[in-house]
Amino acid sequence: MICFLVAADRGDPQVRSLSKLAESLGYAPTLVAGLAALRAERSFTDARRPLVLVADVAGGTLADAALRLAQDEQGRAFVVYVADSLSPDLYKTLVRSQAGEWIAWDTCAQELRDLTRSFASAEPADRSARVVSFLPSKGGVGNTTLALETGIHLSARRKSPMRVALLDLNLQGGTLADALDLTPRFEVGEIIAQPERLDEQLIDVFTSRHTPRLDVFASPPRRLDLGTVPPEIVFTLIDAIAKRYEAVLIDLPHAWVAWVDNVVQGSDAVVVSGGPSVPALRKLTQTLSHCDTLAIPAADLAVAVNACEVDLLGRVTRQAEIERPLAGRTLFRIRRDGAAANGALDAGRSLIEMAPTARISADIKALAEWCGAARNPA
Ligand SMILES: Nc1ncnc2c1ncn2[C@@H]1O[C@H](COP(=O)(O)OP(=O)(O)OP(=O)(O)O)[C@@H](O)[C@H]1O
Ligand SMILES: [Mg+2]
Repeated sequence: MICFLVAADRGDPQVRSLSKLAESLGYAPTLVAGLAALRAERSFTDARRPLVLVADVAGGTLADAALRLAQDEQGRAFVVYVADSLSPDLYKTLVRSQAGEWIAWDTCAQELRDLTRSFASAEPADRSARVVSFLPSKGGVGNTTLALETGIHLSARRKSPMRVALLDLNLQGGTLADALDLTPRFEVGEIIAQPERLDEQLIDVFTSRHTPRLDVFASPPRRLDLGTVPPEIVFTLIDAIAKRYEAVLIDLPHAWVAWVDNVVQGSDAVVVSGGPSVPALRKLTQTLSHCDTLAIPAADLAVAVNACEVDLLGRVTRQAEIERPLAGRTLFRIRRDGAAANGALDAGRSLIEMAPTARISADIKALAEWCGAARNPA
């Protein structure tokens, strides 16, 4: 999510601490000297849902302009006016706009945290794509496989196929493109250097087309410190891609970086993937506890326990052990089928295409249908 910090004096200690606070919440605020300059800023006018922090250190001089911005940008931008006080009338109008909030300097740390959390998880009004994050609880649990196969199913199902983008955020070079025998084309370095270059044409350049309904955005192998990737870049990319598709499926890295939480919070649904062994289930519950702190609505979160062992009849074994720590969660069990999974990888094709009648394919399709569904009832 793209963030702007409007402040006349960027050297002011309060402004500096607000900027640091925003960074600690996963934003990379762009400093702008005033509201007029902000309105003229292309990265602001082009952003799908920018967050604007208006830092008023001069006793309310920016209140009127902040309110006007919230009213003008209703439904697109969200304006947070930070000042010692705000008159009750202006406050009422600001809140009624549903596009702004006032927070006081002395409580801004907690209030901004709460506000950005609900802002990030709010359903954006103007986004067409359903964004689903696949969050691995540990490495090698099949997160990429599940995201990819979900994309294949949603884009190829007979009833209402969707236009799908698969976004591999393993920016050091993931395995998603390779699994479909595609050349990865997303050069994150290019937009880190010049974020304003991320226009429609560059998105085209970054696209690896699998089918007319399924595109992949994946990075070639690069030595890159994930922590140095500005969150803003990630959100701008997701925003830009979301405009073009009906579903955006995100393969998140296993290594945690601050922006991962914000991507998860900003998604319409989250699939936490894990394995069925005792240590893997422990990891899974830890990741789920972390998700609970991010206030993801229960109805928007599913757990995928992948590569479950089966008995001679093909039934998942150790069901009770798997279900116990996951009680109350939406749970999908995906059976282990090494032959189908490896056969697909070796062929550079999807396993549900290669083995459409295998049980593993049926399991993945059930998960995929959940991912493609409209908002689930709580
Ligand atoms: N249900 C399954 N049964 C058998 N093998 C599977 C299953 N799901 C995935 N695999 C295999 O497990 C391996 C790891 O899968 P994948 O790359 O999807 O995991 P990952 O969580 O994305 O790993 P990484 O942490 O490296 O990103 C692959 O060889 C894949 O084919
Ligand atoms: Mg992976």
